[in-house]
Amino acid sequence: MNADSGTAAERAAVLRERLHHHNYRYYVLDDPEVTDAEYDRMLRELQDLEAEHPELQTPDSPTQRVGAPPLEKFDTGAHLVPMLSLENAFDEAEMTEFDRRVRTRLETEAAVDYCAEPKLDGLAVSLLYEDGVFTRGLTRGDGTTGEDVTVNLRTVASLPLALRGDRPPSRLEVRGEVFMPRDGFERINADHRERGVKPFANPRNAAAGSLRQLDSRITAKRPLRLCCYSVGVIEGVALPDTQYETLECLQAWGLPVSPERRRINGLEAARACYDDLATRRAELAYEIDGVVFKVDSLAAQAELGFVARAPRWAIAWKFPAEEQITVLRTVEFQVGRTGAITPVAKLEPVTVAGARVSNATLHNMDEVARKDVHIGDTVVIRRAGDVIPEVVRVLPEKRPEGARVPEMPTTCPVCGSDVVREEGEAAHRCTGGLYCRAQRKEAIRHFASRRALDIDGLGEKIIDQLVERDLVEHVDQLFSLRHEDLVSLERLADKSARNLLDALEAAKETTLARFVYALGIREVGEATAKALAAHFGSLDALMEASEEQLCEVPDVGPVVAHSIRTFFEQPHNREVIAALRTAGVAWTEGEPAGGGPKPLAGSTYVLTGSLEEMTREAASERLQGLGAKVTGSVSKKTTAVIAGADPGSKVDKARDLGVPVLGEADLRELLDVR
Ligand code: IVH
Repeated sequence: MNADSGTAAERAAVLRERLHHHNYRYYVLDDPEVTDAEYDRMLRELQDLEAEHPELQTPDSPTQRVGAPPLEKFDTGAHLVPMLSLENAFDEAEMTEFDRRVRTRLETEAAVDYCAEPKLDGLAVSLLYEDGVFTRGLTRGDGTTGEDVTVNLRTVASLPLALRGDRPPSRLEVRGEVFMPRDGFERINADHRERGVKPFANPRNAAAGSLRQLDSRITAKRPLRLCCYSVGVIEGVALPDTQYETLECLQAWGLPVSPERRRINGLEAARACYDDLATRRAELAYEIDGVVFKVDSLAAQAELGFVARAPRWAIAWKFPAEEQITVLRTVEFQVGRTGAITPVAKLEPVTVAGARVSNATLHNMDEVARKDVHIGDTVVIRRAGDVIPEVVRVLPEKRPEGARVPEMPTTCPVCGSDVVREEGEAAHRCTGGLYCRAQRKEAIRHFASRRALDIDGLGEKIIDQLVERDLVEHVDQLFSLRHEDLVSLERLADKSARNLLDALEAAKETTLARFVYALGIREVGEATAKALAAHFGSLDALMEASEEQLCEVPDVGPVVAHSIRTFFEQPHNREVIAALRTAGVAWTEGEPAGGGPKPLAGSTYVLTGSLEEMTREAASERLQGLGAKVTGSVSKKTTAVIAGADPGSKVDKARDLGVPVLGEADLRELLDVR
C-alpha cells in the first residue's frame, strides 16, 4: 500500500456511504437531495479511486452495478417458500364477492382493513439478503424454482446491495417486481428501431428481456426499477402486525416500495382507491394493470390461508385491458415534417383502455413486413399511456381470403413527388421538401409548438388553411400575416385574429436553443438544440461550424453533425433564417462554451468546494470547452486542483502530491484565456 491509501480508503468509505444515501433518497423516498450531475460526479470520483486502488473495491460498492462477463446459462434456485400468484377480479361484482368471502371466513360483519398497492406490470423476483447483504436473486419461474439472476439484479440501481440500519434481519427473502418505466421503454425501443433491432412489444416484455440477459452488462444499460411488495422469509427480526407496516419496514431497510400504497377500510374505500388509480393510471411513470388489495392484518392473513396457488387474503382488481382485437380496414400513408412516410392502420373502431381508437401506427414498412400485416387482418391493438396506439401483431388464422399486403406508394400521397428510401434507413421519404404541403404544415406546426417558438393559438386547423391557401409557404411568412389575412380564414373571428397577431409578436423574443429546435433540423431534438446553443453561443458560429466542430458538442455524433451541416448548406434554409431575423425574431447570444481554440488541451483539473460565481458543473463545462479534462480525483497527473469554499480532502491530497491548488480568481483567469 502506498502512502496515501489511508486517506483514499477513508474517502472511498465516505463516498460509498453518501452514494448509498442518495440512492435511497432518490429511489426509495423519491426525494433526492442532490442533482443527477452531483451524484454522477461522486460516482465518478469513487470509480477513479477504485481504479487507482483496486483493493478498496467492496462487493456492495455503488460502482459494482456495471454488469459482469456473460454467463453460459442461468443456474436455477429454489425459493425458500413458494411464490404464489393472485386471484383476479375483473369487475366490481367480483371484488364485492371477494370482500364478502373474506368477512365470512373471518366471521365478521365489520369493514376489513386492506392494504392497497398498484399492480405493477413487470417480472416478479425474490431477493435474498443475508446479514444485510444482497446474496441471491431469483425470477419467479414456476413458483417453486426460478432462474438465478443475481448478477443482473445487482445492476438495478434501485435494488440496495446492502440493507440500511443497524439491525437488519439476519436473513430476509423479499419479493418484488422488476419493471421498466415508460420513458425508459420508449428510449430503448427508439434505439432498437434506429439500429434495426426488433422493438419490445410492451414494457413488461422489455423488463423481462432485460433481466433475463446472459450478459449483465446489457442489463446494466437498461432502465430497470424495483418495487418490493412482500416478505417470504425473515429471521432475526420480527415483522410488524400488518402488511402496511411491513412495507414501511422494508422502506426503512432501503428497499423501494410503492409510494401509492394506501391503508383503507372496507369495500367502499377500495372502490374509491381503484377509481383514483384508474384515472391517474396514464399519468404514472410506469404501467400498472390493476390494484392489489391485501387483508392488512397478518394474523387475519394466517387465518385465511391459501387455496391452490393463491392466497385467500389478496386479490388483484384488474383495469380494463390495454390491448384489444379489431379488424384492419385499410392502410393509409401519412407524411411527416421531415418527409418520413408512416403507414397508419385504419381500424374498425374499438375501445382500448377506455378510449375509442380508430387509427394505429405501423411505424414503417419493415415493421409491416415483420408483423406480416395484411389489409383485412384481425389485429391486436395496444394503447398505453399517452403513446400513439400501435398494431402489436396480427392473428393470421383469421386472415380472410385474398387479403393483400399494403404497399408503399411510389409517389407522395400529398404532393406527388418521388418517394425514396435511403440506404440503412427504415423510413420511406417524400422528396418534395417544403414544396410538399404535408411537410410544410408539419414544419409550421413544429415551429409554433410549445417547446419551439411557442406561438399561442396557431393550431392545426389554422395552419392547414394557411398552407392550403398559400398564405404561408415558409415559416418566416407567419410574421407578415395581416389582420385581414387571418379574418378571411374559417373559424377565426376578429378577436382571435388579434390574439394570434399578438402571440406572433410575443414569439419573436426567444432563445437560441428554442430557435435552433424550431428550425426542425433532422436529428436535432430539444436536448441537442440546447447543447448546440450552449456550445456555439451564436447562430452564426453554429451555421458555420464544420462537421468535426459539431462533433465536439456533447451527444452530437457524425450522423447528427452531417444532418446539421446539410441543413445549413441549403440556400433556401439560409434564406428562411435571414428572413426570420429580418422579421424581428431575436434572442440574446451568449459566449461559446466550446468550439473555439483549445488552449487547455492536455491539462487535467479537479474542482472541489463551492464556487461563488458559478456552479461546479458550469465551470467544468467551460474548462472542457477549452479542451481541459475535468476529473473527480487528484493524482500525480492532475494539472491543478481548483478549490472553492470548504474544499475537503482533495486539497490535502493535492498538497501531498505536490499538485498546485488554485482559487476561484485563477479559474476566472483560466477561462478568459482564448
Ligand atoms: S403480491 C401472495 N403485490 O402479480 C401474493 N403481487 O398475479 C403474491 N404483482 O407474481 C403477490 N404487483 O408479479 C403482489 N403489489 C403487488 C404486486 C404483485 C405486481 C405481480 C407479481 C405476482 C403477480 C400475481
